[in-house]
Amino acid sequence: MNVNSERSQSLWMATAPEHRAQPLVTNERADVVVVGSGIAGLSVAYELCREEQSVIVVDRGALARGMTARTSAHLASVLDDFYHELIRLRGLEEARHYLHSQVRALDRVEQIQASENIECDFRRLDGYLFAASDEDVSILEREIDACHGLGFSGVAWDRLPGTGDGGEHRCLRFPEQGRFHPLKYLDGLIRCIERDGGRLYAETPVVSVEEKGGETIVRTRQGHEIRARAAVIATNSPINDWIAIHTKQAPYRTYVVAGRVPSGSVVDALYWDTLDPYHYVRLQPSGAEHAWLIVGGEDHKTGQADDQPERIARLTQWAKARFPRMGDPEYAWSGQVMEPVDYLAYIGRNPGNDNIFVVTGDSGEGLSNGVAGSLILRDLILGRDNAWTDVYQPNRISIGAAGEYISENLTMPANLAEHLTGGELSSLDELKPGDGGLFRRGTAKLAAYRDTGGELHIRSATCTHAGCVVHWNGFERCWDCPCHGSHFSVDGEPLNAPAFKPLAAADE
Ligand SMILES: Cc1cc2nc3c(=O)[nH]c(=O)nc-3n(C[C@H](O)[C@H](O)[C@H](O)COP(=O)(O)OP(=O)(O)OC[C@H]3O[C@@H](n4cnc5c(N)ncnc54)[C@H](O)[C@@H]3O)c2cc1C
Ligand code: FES
Repeated sequence: MNVNSERSQSLWMATAPEHRAQPLVTNERADVVVVGSGIAGLSVAYELCREEQSVIVVDRGALARGMTARTSAHLASVLDDFYHELIRLRGLEEARHYLHSQVRALDRVEQIQASENIECDFRRLDGYLFAASDEDVSILEREIDACHGLGFSGVAWDRLPGTGDGGEHRCLRFPEQGRFHPLKYLDGLIRCIERDGGRLYAETPVVSVEEKGGETIVRTRQGHEIRARAAVIATNSPINDWIAIHTKQAPYRTYVVAGRVPSGSVVDALYWDTLDPYHYVRLQPSGAEHAWLIVGGEDHKTGQADDQPERIARLTQWAKARFPRMGDPEYAWSGQVMEPVDYLAYIGRNPGNDNIFVVTGDSGEGLSNGVAGSLILRDLILGRDNAWTDVYQPNRISIGAAGEYISENLTMPANLAEHLTGGELSSLDELKPGDGGLFRRGTAKLAAYRDTGGELHIRSATCTHAGCVVHWNGFERCWDCPCHGSHFSVDGEPLNAPAFKPLAAADE
C-alpha cells in the first residue's frame, strides 16, 4: 500500500493505466537498488540502466502511485520560492548552478520522451508569474532583476493573457517551461527500464537499509534482501534517516481541483501568483472539445488543518473568478510536498554513508528536482564529476535559514506534548460513520476511525517514525503525522514515508 490508497483520485490516476508488477519473493543482487518508484526513483533507474548498470526498483505499493500521481505536473525552471530569495540565502553562484540543473532537467524530459516515443502530452510553453496585488509587483521587480543577473535572460514583463480580473495585473513571462502527463511519462520510463534489463517490484515495503563490507543491503518486510553496490532512497521523505534531513524540511498538504474549459478559451501556459501559499494553474489537453483546467493551492502544514471542503471551495471560487469558463471541478485531490528550510532539494550521499544516496526535499518543484537528481546520482554512483553536487548536498547547513529551521522544528516538541494532554473525544460514541478522532485510554493516546458500516478501527496514535501524535485527515480518510510527513491508513498501515512500520495495535 501507499498513498494510492488515500481517498481522493487525481486526474492523472483516472487517465493512465496502473502498471502491474509482482512483489519481490527471493533474495537478489544488482549494481544499484532504488527504493521508490516516483519520478525520482524511476528517473535514476532509467539513467543507470542506460549506463548498463543492473538495477532493481522496489516500491511499498503500486508502481508510480506515490506523490507523483498527485502532482499538478508543471515542469518549471522557475523557482517557486523566487530566485532573488535564493541568491540572498545561498549566493549568486549556487543559484546559477541550481538554475542550470533545472533547465537541464526539463531538457532531459523533453529528450527522453522524444527519443523513447513516450506519448505523455509533453509540451514546451510559457510560464506566467503574476502579482496577487499591486503591492506584490515589487516581488516581480526583484525577481526579474535576479533572473537577468543569473543569465535567465528570456524572462520579460508581460500582461496575463486572456483571463478575468487577473488580467489587470502585470506579470513576468518565463519562456521554455513545460508540462506533461506525469503518469504516462512514468509508464514510458518503466517500459524502458524493463527493456534495459531493470527489475521492478511492487507491494514490497523496505524496512531497513544498511551499508556493510562495501555493499548495501536493503531488507523487505517480506523477509528478503537485495545486495547492491549502491542504494538510492527515493521514497520522497527518506526512510533511512531520523534526524539529519528531517529537521531541515517540513511536510505541507496541498490541494488541486480540475474542471473543464472549452478548448482554446484559456492560453495553454503555466501560471502562478505571488501569494503564500501561492496558486498554481495549468491546462491538460483532452480531445477537441475541452481541456482540463488544473488549479492548486490552499497549502497548510500537514496534520494541522481539517477543513478541506472549505479549502476546495475557496480554490474553486478563486479559479472561477479568474477563468470564468471553467466548469465545476470533476476532480479534487490532495498531496504532500516536503519544504526544505533553504528552498532546495537534498540530493546526494546520505549523511554518514558512502554508498547510500538520497533524493528528497522536493518542494513544489519535485518533478524537475527528481530528474535533476537522477543526473546527479547517476554521476556520483558512476564516480563522475557533477557541477551541481554542492548545491544539493544533503548534509549542508544554511546559516541564513536559521530562522526557518527553528520555526519548522517547533512542530515536534509541540506535537510530542500532545501525548500528555487529553484526547479530543470524550467517548467513541461521538464518532460518526466515516469520521476519525483521537481519544485516551489509560496512558495511551489512540487513533479511532468508525467506517461507513459502523465498525471501529483503533490503533495507537504514536507515529512509528519518531513518536509524534498522528492527526485525522477527513478528506483523505487517513492519519497524517505533522512532524515529518508520514501517513497511515485507518488500519495503521504506512502509506507515506518516512514511517515504514504500521501503527501499533491499540492494546500493545
Ligand atoms: C498537489 C501537488 C502539486 C505539485 N505540483 C508540482 C508541480 O507542478 N511541479 C513539480 O515539479 N512538482 C510538483 N509537486 C511535487 C512533485 O509532484 C513531487 O515532489 C514528486 O512527484 C515527488 O516524487 P518522488 O519520486 O520524490 O516521490 P513519490 O512519487 O512519492 O515516490 C516515492 C515512492 O516511494 C515509495 N516508498 C515509500 N516508502 C517506501 C518503503 N518503505 N519501501 C518501498 N517503497 C517506499 C512510495 O510508495 C512511492 O511510490 C506537486 C506535489 C503535489 C502533491
Ligand atoms: S513522521 Fe516523523 S514522527 Fe511521524
